[in-house]
Amino acid sequence: MEKYAIAAIPGDGIGNEVVPAAMRILDVVAEIHGGIQWEWTSFPWSCQYYLQHGMMMPSEGIDILRSFDQIFLGAVGMPNLVPDHISLWGLLIRIRRELEQSINLRPARLLKGLRSPLLHPADFDLVVIRENSEGEYTEIGGRMKKGEDEIVVQNAVFTRKATERAMRYAFEQAKKRRNQVTSATKSNGISHSMPFWDEVFREVSTDYPQVTTSSQHIDALTAFLITRPHDLDVIVASNLFGDILTDVGAAIMGSIGIAPAANLNVDRKYPSMFEPVHGSAPDIAGQGIANPLGQIWTGKLMLDFLGYEEMGTLLLEAIEFTLQSGIKTPDLHGKATTEEVTTAIIEYLQKTC
Ligand code: NAD
Ligand code: IPM
Ligand code: MN
Repeated sequence: MEKYAIAAIPGDGIGNEVVPAAMRILDVVAEIHGGIQWEWTSFPWSCQYYLQHGMMMPSEGIDILRSFDQIFLGAVGMPNLVPDHISLWGLLIRIRRELEQSINLRPARLLKGLRSPLLHPADFDLVVIRENSEGEYTEIGGRMKKGEDEIVVQNAVFTRKATERAMRYAFEQAKKRRNQVTSATKSNGISHSMPFWDEVFREVSTDYPQVTTSSQHIDALTAFLITRPHDLDVIVASNLFGDILTDVGAAIMGSIGIAPAANLNVDRKYPSMFEPVHGSAPDIAGQGIANPLGQIWTGKLMLDFLGYEEMGTLLLEAIEFTLQSGIKTPDLHGKATTEEVTTAIIEYLQKTC
């Protein structure tokens, strides 16, 4: 029996609804497999925790997490309670950085039983490799002067190591898929970081002659996602561009509530963190109608990462069966609750295996 210690951090808002749902399902998957056991420990780190303790997690929080095999996180942020830059930099972004989860893997594809807002989305199946440790997300900068002369400077950081790492990871993914990598750039408008990004992309691509490459400005690429999604296989993008592209990808899939993501420590030195693309959805939190599929599909990414691809495939099959049966939450124009979707997936798994 392989035992995995998993730190569960439901976080804020609907994280508290979709994480327990996905944990129940992962427990059923483990039972069916027979050789996996999840040892869950839940942590209440969230905006509520901040209001009580003045911080998003205890000062030894990162050390605590280091002792786990993986992290399963819902969402962080309750902007009416705590400003987002405080809650996110105090928990989500801090974990990504300190545990060196430098790759954010975000697949987007049209599942069976889903309706895309696009007319011809049939072959929509891509993966965004988002650089997850630096880029436009920095705390470097500041405010200068006051009043009408006020200036705000926000610096971006692109290191050769992290840029190259994201690109190599993207090329490796492409080798397992359709051998295409598209780089998201903006070297026409951003004068230092993006020409550097292009240069590293060209250099890395010479090591992968079998992979077709293309470099597209982020504005045009965002439009291609809508007009020519079938032409895209692997997209490699900086932190901010990858963030934006993956919400567009989620919308093409039918809802932000479905999109999965994995923050990977590729060297497996520290735990990786599995966390869907969506946020805490304060507008629907507490109503029992959050779509749990993003969190559940994220569970599949954790199974894949741990080497249980066959169980991951089974889980995706259960998700598609449920969608094809019309058991959908309101974001997918259905009437089902979080609980009903969860139960339907569990019943499918138990009936099939
Ligand atoms: P959001 O993803 O929380 O919500 C955007 C819209 O999508 C809302 O209408 C919401 O109801 C809907 N939605 C999202 N997930 C859904 C689901 N599973 N089922 C059904 N509908 C769903 O984005 P936002 O409103 O910009 O952010 C809300 C808070 O979450 C903010 O504090 C933000 O910073 C934070 N956030 C956190 C993460 C994260 O922790 N990974 C990601 C994005 C946003
Ligand atoms: C995401 C989120 C986060 C990000 C925010 C909440 C900081 O949007 O995971 O996609 O931009 O990385
Ligand atoms: Mn985002």
